[in-house]
Amino acid sequence: MRQKLVAGNWKMQGSREMAETLAGGITAGIGEAPPCAVAVCPPYPYLDEVGKLLAASPVELGAQNLAVEDEGAYTGEVAGGMLADFGCHFVIVGHSERRALYGEDDAMVAAKFLAAQRHGLVPILCLGETLEERESGVTENVVGRQLEAVIAAAGVSALGRAVIAYEPVWAIGTGRTASPDQAQEVHAFTRSLIANKDAKIADSVQVLYGGSVKPANAAEIFSMPDVDGGLIGGASLEAESFLAICAACG
Ligand code: 13P
Repeated sequence: MRQKLVAGNWKMQGSREMAETLAGGITAGIGEAPPCAVAVCPPYPYLDEVGKLLAASPVELGAQNLAVEDEGAYTGEVAGGMLADFGCHFVIVGHSERRALYGEDDAMVAAKFLAAQRHGLVPILCLGETLEERESGVTENVVGRQLEAVIAAAGVSALGRAVIAYEPVWAIGTGRTASPDQAQEVHAFTRSLIANKDAKIADSVQVLYGGSVKPANAAEIFSMPDVDGGLIGGASLEAESFLAICAACG
């Protein structure tokens, strides 16, 4: 039985004050034994402060991105070792916003996945198709290609220390969620692709769904057999809605 995980991706939003209030609200409301594993991924400048606020709670800290390189003359980049230094447990890699807006291709995403694991971080590997790709019937080709690139670079066993997040691009920030059946279909496909190489890893890897998850739709999506929780954007920016989504795991 896989434990569910709900992770908040705050993206580039808020302020120092908001980060403190949000982290405080989440730790106050989460209780000592939440019904699922919980994580938040604040912007880099707030990692330290949020990490301190989370320290006595079961909520894990994550980052939204990391550099491919471990150190050196890479102005503006942040290395995995630095994130580990700040107490990060997770780091998101291959988010569709990074792929679309910053030109991160499959090879770079695979390199970031490897960089994360080199520093003991658990990568949350994002996969997902655009609306155009879905409508032209190539969802499985796209998701399969994105996943295979990481498996080719890191080996299937590396997925034993990683989380996958299926985030259809057309559902991110649009209010248009994948139906539970649509999510289940891609999650099952993802798991079957892994099972062809290693059944045990396929059975144990958490596959999260992301894209317009709200308190009102979380329980239905999370009830699907291959959906192991969610990666939450907009609804993770208020403690109340994020906590309600965590409660939907129970
Ligand atoms: P929304 O929940 O705002 O659609 O964002 C999803 C997402 O991109 C999480 O990484």
